[in-house]
Amino acid sequence: MKIVLLGGPGAGKGTQAQRLVAEFGVAHISTGDLLRAAVKAGTPLGKQAKSYMDKGQLVPDSLVVDLVKERLQEEDAQRGFILDGFPRNTAQAVTLDSELNTMGIKLDAAILIDVHPDVIVKRLSSRRTCKKCGYTGGADMEVCPRCSGEMYQRDDDKPETIQHRLAVYQSQTAPLVEHYKGHRILKTVNGEQSQDKVYQDIKDLLNL
Ligand code: AP5
Ligand code: MG
Repeated sequence: MKIVLLGGPGAGKGTQAQRLVAEFGVAHISTGDLLRAAVKAGTPLGKQAKSYMDKGQLVPDSLVVDLVKERLQEEDAQRGFILDGFPRNTAQAVTLDSELNTMGIKLDAAILIDVHPDVIVKRLSSRRTCKKCGYTGGADMEVCPRCSGEMYQRDDDKPETIQHRLAVYQSQTAPLVEHYKGHRILKTVNGEQSQDKVYQDIKDLLNL
């Protein structure tokens, strides 16, 4: 399994990736999670990325691309991978195409999880994320069901930042739908269904 998950903020990319990883043991490559880990660790990269993330802007490509290239070389990624939140603009998509080409790898699919912006605002306002492992759930979760870590509200899940992230998605990331249509690997699922139904639809699309 070598796939890209596309979709706006809160579409359910992380949720579905976590389920695919648990069932199929492939690597979950989430640039958002990698960047949040760098911020938490206080690395130079994290310090540079934080101000962009807090505003809901994209972090410069130069900071993100190497993270993904390194992660793709790790052992678990050799069994397959799910790219979640990357690529995020056309330049990143072109870089990814060329990197995978060099590695002799072809993507199986780019799956768009399609959710209306109104639904996204509601979902993100009530999302809670695990401080320790990044697991995502709803506002009713105080303790992470996966690692018992503390659940918190992400800094970029404030209403005004959500609106900005949506605008950034429309202008910079949504054009990737055409990019992957051009590669004939775009598949779309209705992300407004239950998490179980979305998961089943994704597996059906991948013939799993
Ligand atoms: P990132 O972490 O990638 O955030 P995002 O794309 O905005 O997406 P989210 O993680 O918010 O949503 P999701 O689709 O994973 O939804 P989830 O499964 O959690 O990026 C954050 C920031 O990092 C960016 O703004 C940018 O600054 C930077 N960044 C990251 N990658 C970058 C890159 N490549 N280049 C440059 N900058 C980059 O679900 C959301 C909620 O909905 C949860 O509470 C969940 O429980 C619930 N939910 C999920 N599915 C359903 C369902 N079917 N029904 C009901 N509820 C559901
Ligand atoms: Mg996510």
